Amino acid sequence: MIIVTGATGHVGSELIARLAAEHLPVRAMTRRPQAIQAPPGVEVVYGDCDDPDSLHAAFNGADRAFLMSAQATGSAERPTHDLRLVHAARRAGIRHVVKLSVYDGGRSDDALGAWHREAEAAVTDSGLDWTLLRPGRFMSNALHWAPMIRRGDTVHIPFAHRPAASIDPADIAAIAAAALTTEHHHNSAYQLSGPEVLTPAEELRILAATLGRPLRAVEPTIDQAKAGMCRAGMTEPVVEAIVARVLTGDDGAEVLPTVEQLLGRPPVTFATWARNHAGAFLAAD
Ligand SMILES: NC(=O)c1ccc[n+]([C@@H]2O[C@H](COP(=O)([O-])OP(=O)(O)OC[C@H]3O[C@@H](n4cnc5c(N)ncnc54)[C@H](OP(=O)(O)O)[C@@H]3O)[C@@H](O)[C@H]2O)c1
Repeated sequence: MIIVTGATGHVGSELIARLAAEHLPVRAMTRRPQAIQAPPGVEVVYGDCDDPDSLHAAFNGADRAFLMSAQATGSAERPTHDLRLVHAARRAGIRHVVKLSVYDGGRSDDALGAWHREAEAAVTDSGLDWTLLRPGRFMSNALHWAPMIRRGDTVHIPFAHRPAASIDPADIAAIAAAALTTEHHHNSAYQLSGPEVLTPAEELRILAATLGRPLRAVEPTIDQAKAGMCRAGMTEPVVEAIVARVLTGDDGAEVLPTVEQLLGRPPVTFATWARNHAGAFLAAD
């Protein structure tokens, strides 16, 4: 039995669909079991990282796990959700975990780095077999633009000119599925990118062409972007670390061969992602 945490998320929902299509035993964990529309054959269980007992019940009887945490970086002293997920996996006798991590895997010497280093170490020091997936920016971040696009043609995009080789979460899910269903990827870490380097403003142009709409990117000032992140609940050290990385770093702005090496096909382009998700940007009737 494979338990998928974050099963309603961008990666997790693609992963349960893929595993179910292969008729593998899969269990989808969510805090809202009644709200999820899982593919046929998928067992749905309640689990909340803020409720450790629920994790033990959810993981019981599984032998492999896909782990992701939605805990906001810096919102606690330590990445408690990651620590609890690994604890639940060990207690349940799980043999192999695939963890959705971040691009730099916690290498940086800032507030984000310390958090992700500890989150990855929880997995790699667990005694379980592990696979770490380290993707760059997700194409699905563009879904944040959907409410603005449904209202009009102007889209406010922080750091609109910061390039990255963003990746389709479905490609991450395909690699997670491969890692969970063979032993070839045990105790390996993969840095993952999409197939082309684009700025969010360039992604918006591709989306505009897909939707047949004249969309215009407006970039907030750095101070406005900082204020927005603080309003969203990010701590000051995290906001400062993000801004420093955006202004001075180029992490993620490189096309890597990993997805093609692992899947035997090129990664999905932003144009294809936009076509596949165009419905999310259309006004409701
Ligand atoms: N976005 C990016 O550009 C990017 C880049 C690199 C890495 N990442 C990493 O990718 C992950 C996000 O993946 P995603 O986009 O697939 O997720 P997502 O679409 O943001 O979905 C969040 C998931 O987390 C679950 N969740 C939220 N709070 C929870 C809790 N207290 N306990 C258990 N589950 C909880 C939600 O499940 P329910 O609401 O159904 O319970 C939902 O399935 C993060 O770890 C992030 O660091 C993101």
